[in-house]
Amino acid sequence: MTKVVSAVVFDAYGTLFDVYSVTALAERLAPGQGTALSLHWRAKQLEYSWLVSLMAPSPATGAIADFSIVTAQALDHAAATLGLKLEDSERNALLDSYLHLEAFADAPAALAALAPRPRWVLSNGSQAMLTPLVAQSPLAGDLDGVLSVETAGVFKPSPRVYKLAVERLGLPTSRIAFVSSNGWDAIGAKAFGFTTFWVNRTGAPVDRHGAPPDRIIASLDQLPAAVKAWESTPR
Ligand code: LAC
Repeated sequence: MTKVVSAVVFDAYGTLFDVYSVTALAERLAPGQGTALSLHWRAKQLEYSWLVSLMAPSPATGAIADFSIVTAQALDHAAATLGLKLEDSERNALLDSYLHLEAFADAPAALAALAPRPRWVLSNGSQAMLTPLVAQSPLAGDLDGVLSVETAGVFKPSPRVYKLAVERLGLPTSRIAFVSSNGWDAIGAKAFGFTTFWVNRTGAPVDRHGAPPDRIIASLDQLPAAVKAWESTPR
């Protein structure tokens, strides 16, 4: 008996969509600081998502598990760190750019090659962020659905989030492949029980706080062959 991948679930930000495609606009608004702003913004966005998840998210604690809120708070902190005063219109333009992020060039062919398996997104993004993002992208036709963490009320890597995919797809956990370029997300998905493919675009070392991902690939180009190879290994 060999392994089976019956569906493939993708992280969105950083995996299918390039969060650093905001850099060009950031550079226009803050000449010389666009790269620093986009790096700080993303780092803080992730940090806040983890902190909010630990703070018993609720209106009472003031920690709201809504990625659009976390993303705006992270932008404000990043701008303050760099001593930037953004006008409201500039701040809104940067936040709006999250609805138009560029898809990675290797994403469309990888998604197409994985058909006819269902291909889904499971992301920290709110549905209001993810629906327009996917719709404006070249990936829309090759995705079967989009799941937001918002119904779980917590962010990744909470197991409650990964469970949403099992419930929605109605498949055994072990038959779902989870693909992320975020190393901590791949570790979280592996801990939950998914077969995980870490897209390590930058050659980063593997995170140490949990079992490593099942497979490490350098780009989404390599994913269809990696899934096939995985399926030919004994169970
Ligand atoms: C997401 C973040 C983790 O899309 O990139 O869920």
